[in-house]
Amino acid sequence: MLRTKIPDYFKTRRQKLMDAHPGAVFFFPSHPYLIRNSDVHFPHRQDSSLYYLSGFDEPESFLVLTPDFSAARRFKTILFVQPRDPEKEMWEGERYGLDGALKTFGVDETYPIQELDKKLPEFLDGCERLYYKMGLQPGMDKRILAALETHRYTQGRSGRGLLAVVDSTEAVGELRLFKGSEEIDLLKKACDISAEAHKNAMRETRPGMNESEIEALIDFGFRRKGCERVGYPSIVAGGKNSTCLHYRSNNETLKEGDLLLIDAGGEFSYYTADITRTFPVSKSFSPAQARIYSLVLKVQKDAIENVCPGTTLTEIHARVCEGLVEGMLSLGLLKGSVRDILKSREYRRFYPHNTSHWLGMDVHDAGLYIKNGEPRVLEAGMVLTIEPGFYVQPSDSQAPAEYRNIGIRIEDDVLVTAGGNEVLTKDAPKEISEIEALRF
Ligand code: GLY
Ligand code: MN
Ligand code: MN
Repeated sequence: MLRTKIPDYFKTRRQKLMDAHPGAVFFFPSHPYLIRNSDVHFPHRQDSSLYYLSGFDEPESFLVLTPDFSAARRFKTILFVQPRDPEKEMWEGERYGLDGALKTFGVDETYPIQELDKKLPEFLDGCERLYYKMGLQPGMDKRILAALETHRYTQGRSGRGLLAVVDSTEAVGELRLFKGSEEIDLLKKACDISAEAHKNAMRETRPGMNESEIEALIDFGFRRKGCERVGYPSIVAGGKNSTCLHYRSNNETLKEGDLLLIDAGGEFSYYTADITRTFPVSKSFSPAQARIYSLVLKVQKDAIENVCPGTTLTEIHARVCEGLVEGMLSLGLLKGSVRDILKSREYRRFYPHNTSHWLGMDVHDAGLYIKNGEPRVLEAGMVLTIEPGFYVQPSDSQAPAEYRNIGIRIEDDVLVTAGGNEVLTKDAPKEISEIEALRF
């Protein structure tokens, strides 16, 4: 379904970007249409930054923001789109076309995507730098280079070389890192829907079901409440599979006595949740599972309490590691002193990943982690995950048998607020008593 008018905040974002980078021109290509086989394509999902700055979601499109030296508005926005084509639209669905895109997306000019190569050089006129993300689409990189070369020789003898090209990741990432209220509303929606789907999986899972069945159940929970798709491939990992960090197969039978780790988030209007919950395939946790689960839960809740303006992800991660190492020692899984184990990073045998990442339109969202050589200080409006875990590999013959095949991760999405934080995924149960009450 086509929209008739998009909210003004897309325009405000463009203004902010251009105000922060005077003299710069920005190019944002859509993802190319990728062929899966013969005439079947992979599903299209717009490039996050193109969408963030325009709201335009069709493939075969290209967004230009360029200074406008002749007008008080200071910059202009141009969208290249697929023109209307009744024959094609009969097969592929309705398009905005040139007029529709102009009216709906509040841009200044629209052109057919077929005119991209011819038009690009003129948007470089008078600019000091081009912001463009090289290296993602080799075919597009060549076309951008051709536009730069054309622009250079049409300038006459200037004594200057090609316009400088700067990767746009940081410029846009610094805007996307701070979520506006409209973005927080969408994230909350994605988190509420995803939390409900996780809760439903806790209710419905039974021994003998296949991981893929639970994946489908979760997906149904997302889609029936309005998510367009998943924010990343769901991980539905039973037993030993729970110790594989990015397990993808999701095709084994769930066994009595095993744990099930589900890392899944629905994407709602281009914003994704990222939730992990771990629960028993049987009615309750075994004593060994409960010991490790309680440790991860305690460390996770402490970490969430530490999320507030002024702290850093590095500090939060350091405290998580310390808490987990204390637990590894008291469970008898490691020997030595907390200090030495932290220094040697021996704990990575059980906790090999980081605690947090930014979250938003992308599951691993845009924004600098290190700024001016220092870990990024948290500020209100940032959204991040807190996701400690504990994994005892099936092959770990040093570990007592009762702990092997246990993989546990507990992951919530947290908004930094002026006074501390708000957990957006609080409705996904994580206390042992809450989880066991939902089991059959
Ligand atoms: N689901 C990917 C992650 O947790 O980072
Ligand atoms: Mn995550
Ligand atoms: Mn996750």
